[in-house]
Order: sequence, then structure tokens, then C-alpha cells
Amino acid sequence: MPVPVMADGLPPSLLDMLGPDIEILEWDDSPTSAALARAVAFITYGHPRVDGALMDRAPNLKLVSNHGVGVDHIDCAAAKSRGVLVGNTPGCLDAATADMTMALLLAAARNVVAGDKFARSAAFTHYDPAFMIGYEVSGSTLGIVGLGRIGKQVAKRARAFDMKILYHNRGRDEAAEKELGVTYASLDELLKQSDFVALNCPLTAETTNLISRRELSLMKSTSILVNVARGAVVDHDALLSALKSRRIAGAALDVTSPEPLPRDHPLLELDNIVIAPHLGSAANRTRRRMEEMTVQNLNAGLRGEPLPWRVV
Ligand code: DGY
Repeated sequence: MPVPVMADGLPPSLLDMLGPDIEILEWDDSPTSAALARAVAFITYGHPRVDGALMDRAPNLKLVSNHGVGVDHIDCAAAKSRGVLVGNTPGCLDAATADMTMALLLAAARNVVAGDKFARSAAFTHYDPAFMIGYEVSGSTLGIVGLGRIGKQVAKRARAFDMKILYHNRGRDEAAEKELGVTYASLDELLKQSDFVALNCPLTAETTNLISRRELSLMKSTSILVNVARGAVVDHDALLSALKSRRIAGAALDVTSPEPLPRDHPLLELDNIVIAPHLGSAANRTRRRMEEMTVQNLNAGLRGEPLPWRVV
């Protein structure tokens, strides 16, 4: 008998990797869900919320295999206390996510999106050297909040741009300081000194609304905030007022809270913001590897073997 696995919309490339011994059930977290009652595992592809109450309605649940490294949408403590394993896909997406951090940083600094729109429009009639002057990236100061695996890849790339690199973590990472030439700073110092602030930390209770009104008020008026972490790391009301009043020069967001933002959200009206639909790890080889790791975690868990990449 195939094992029932509940998943939220898998692409054909991932479905093809699953053997005939797996029956995929469409994600259904309604009170009368038959899928929940049967599921032995979940594949969380598009970050559906998995909390204790949901797990309690899935009496056969053994494991959650998450497609992605961030597991903030899964209550891991609740999973642990119920003996449910959680696996994720760390490491394989660090380079792609760091590439996207730099892409957004450059796009916001150098008017790539506004420039594209203008260059396609009838308004572009001649080259004007005084037009769309952006902020210099090379030689500027970058502050990385969260020098983990992804943050370190960002630092490597920033070095190639001759940037001075500050970082903030819960503690100092002396090995990274030696290897990457980065300098530890308190969050406040980092915000005060940086021309670009890149958020590359996980979303936890500690990092929720980490960048709020006070933090934005410390940033330079010429600085740009880049968020490739999770939307909820930034207080969006505070960001909106900082951008509207030009308290900071701009923002580049790969993630928002909620995601997507309501279509009439005022942030979407601003001209000093660049926004992407959560594309951090959306690169061909990275996606393929994420799928492989998701399936390997799933298969191992269903066989009762240790998950190769286990969170809890
Ligand atoms: C991650 O890996 O956490 C990315 O946001 C995609 O899920």
C-alpha cells in the first residue's frame, strides 16, 4: 500500500522523484480533512503553517520534510514534543541566496528596475549623464545582520566589490573575521555605519521586528536596506514611514510579511523600493538540489532511518 503524504502543490520535477510507494494527498488543513487524518508525512513546499493544533489532527504523522532551509512556518518545538521529525535543506541554497542579496542590493543602488522601465518608455529620448544617479556600491560599507552560511557567502561576494564589511551576530565569529576580513559590530553601530544593510538571519522570536522604527532611525539617510531573510524581521509600518519620509534612501525586499503583500499595500506604491517574489533560492541547480534533499529526508524518515538533514 502506498504511504499517504500530504503536500502543498508540488511541481512535476519533485513529483517525478517520488516512487510509486508514495501517494500524494492534496494539502487540506480544514477541520474535516480526510488527508490530515491519513497523512504519515507532510512535504511543506510553499511554507504552509504547521503548528501543534494541525499536528494533533494528523494522528499518523511521523515527519515533516520541508523544501527549504527556513522552518519558521513550522512549530519545531511542538513537533519535537509529539515525536514528529522535521527535515530541511540547508547549505545547498547559500550561494544562490547570496547572489540574490547582491542582485537586489545592486538593483536598488543603481536604479536597475526604474532604469529598465524608463528605457522601455517613450520618455527615453537621449542619454543624460545627470539622470538616475545611484549609490556607489564598490568601496561602500556593507552591514550583514546574520553571518551564518548565507551571510558568509554574501561577505565573499561583497569582498569582490571592495566593500568594507561589518557583521552582527549573537556572538563574534573570530574564524570568519580572519577568513573573510569582516568586522563585528553591535547592531546599532552596524546600522549607523553601513551604506547597505543586508538581513540574512533566520526568523526567530529574537529577530521578529528586529528592524523597527528605532533601528531605521539609526541608519544613514543614504543607506539601503536589503531583506532576503523573512518579511517579519522588518516592521513594515516602520519601513513604510522611513521610506516615505526618505529617512533611508531605499529598500530591496525579497520577502515580506504577509507574503504576498495585499495588492493595495502602500509599500507597493513607493518608487524607492525594489521588490521580488521570494526568489532567494530560485536558481535552477539549487532548486533541483532542494528537491533531492526534500525527497531524501522524506524517504529516510518513512524507512525509519535518520534524516540526512534533521532540524528536530
Ligand atoms: C528557504 O530555504 O527558507 C527559502 O526561503 C525557500 O523556502
